Amino acid sequence: MKILITGGAGYIGSHTVQELIQQGFEVVILDNFSTGKRKLVPGGKVIEGDLRDVSDLERIFSLHDFHGVLHFASLIQVGESYTDPQKYYRHNLITSLNLLHVMLQAKVKLFIFSSSAAVYGIPEQIPIPESHPLNPSNPYGLTKLFVEKILLDYERAYGLKFISLRYFNAAGADPEGRMGEMHEPETHLIPNILLFLLGKKKDLSLYGKDYSTQDGTAIRDYIHVTDLAKAHVLALKKLPVLKNSEFINLGTNKGYSVMEVIKKVETVTGQKVSYSVKPKRKGDVDVLLASREKAKQLLQWDLKYSDLDTIIETAWIWHQKISKHE
Ligand SMILES: NC(=O)c1ccc[n+]([C@@H]2O[C@H](COP(=O)([O-])OP(=O)(O)OC[C@H]3O[C@@H](n4cnc5c(N)ncnc54)[C@H](O)[C@@H]3O)[C@@H](O)[C@H]2O)c1
Repeated sequence: MKILITGGAGYIGSHTVQELIQQGFEVVILDNFSTGKRKLVPGGKVIEGDLRDVSDLERIFSLHDFHGVLHFASLIQVGESYTDPQKYYRHNLITSLNLLHVMLQAKVKLFIFSSSAAVYGIPEQIPIPESHPLNPSNPYGLTKLFVEKILLDYERAYGLKFISLRYFNAAGADPEGRMGEMHEPETHLIPNILLFLLGKKKDLSLYGKDYSTQDGTAIRDYIHVTDLAKAHVLALKKLPVLKNSEFINLGTNKGYSVMEVIKKVETVTGQKVSYSVKPKRKGDVDVLLASREKAKQLLQWDLKYSDLDTIIETAWIWHQKISKHE
């Protein structure tokens, strides 16, 4: 079965390409390499193109007969989405609309969407179930919610079948050391600590020590990227037999505070982490935890790598490896 993966040269996309190939899927990757890297792509056919350009998509769909599409390509920086919302609304909506347009033209109706916990906004309930109110507190999260709304209309009107996967905090790296996180700029906590220890970042800032948590730092739900990738393969296999489209959280239902992450990094690396404390960022909440009941029941999704030790160990191996080649 041939699958199109947009953004397959990115962090989560490349790990999913690896899983799909391992499970016997034929993979075509469409990426503009704006943030993705060729060296992250573990296999499959790579096509350089841009989702903002319908003709790139029409060309690809005229050459390949796809069973389904996994849509990872997106702008992903929450902070930047505040300062330049137009960039996010235009990019994330136009790219998704173009892709769906060409898919429907080609009668490809199976779609897996990379959504985010950002669709929920400030949690009213922890852990957060999929039925939680949707009230994003930033333009990035709104773009994910708008696409989810569009998907519901396209399901009703055109018979599109989709699973929208709402990821919590993706972290870690391929356990075999083949791929890992390479965002530029890096905005995520774990890679930033490791880059700091490797001398690739001058300083390390923590945002807020006045959260209503035991140690005053924010608690997040870290999900290993390989577990995340495996969930996509399960979703892709499940989608044709599902009666309805679905929204599914991908998280662990277990959280770690920023301080707990720092302590674990110190243990794994044997190095002391020094940092400065800056004020909380707009929209940052005390605790974000996913309910994972639906993912367990619908996808039979088990976690293999998402304990904090494995997350940090795999990330550390990856970052040491790439820092030697830079
Ligand atoms: N990283 C996380 O913790 C996290 C959490 C929740 C949701 N997500 C979502 O998961 C998806 C993947 O995130 P990631 O961390 O792998 O990001 P990433 O930046 O590493 O990957 C995105 C990929 O899409 C490509 N791309 C971007 N715009 C494109 C365009 N117009 N045409 C073609 N290719 C384009 C980039 O080159 C890159 O390879 C995104 O949709 C993101 O919103 C990520």
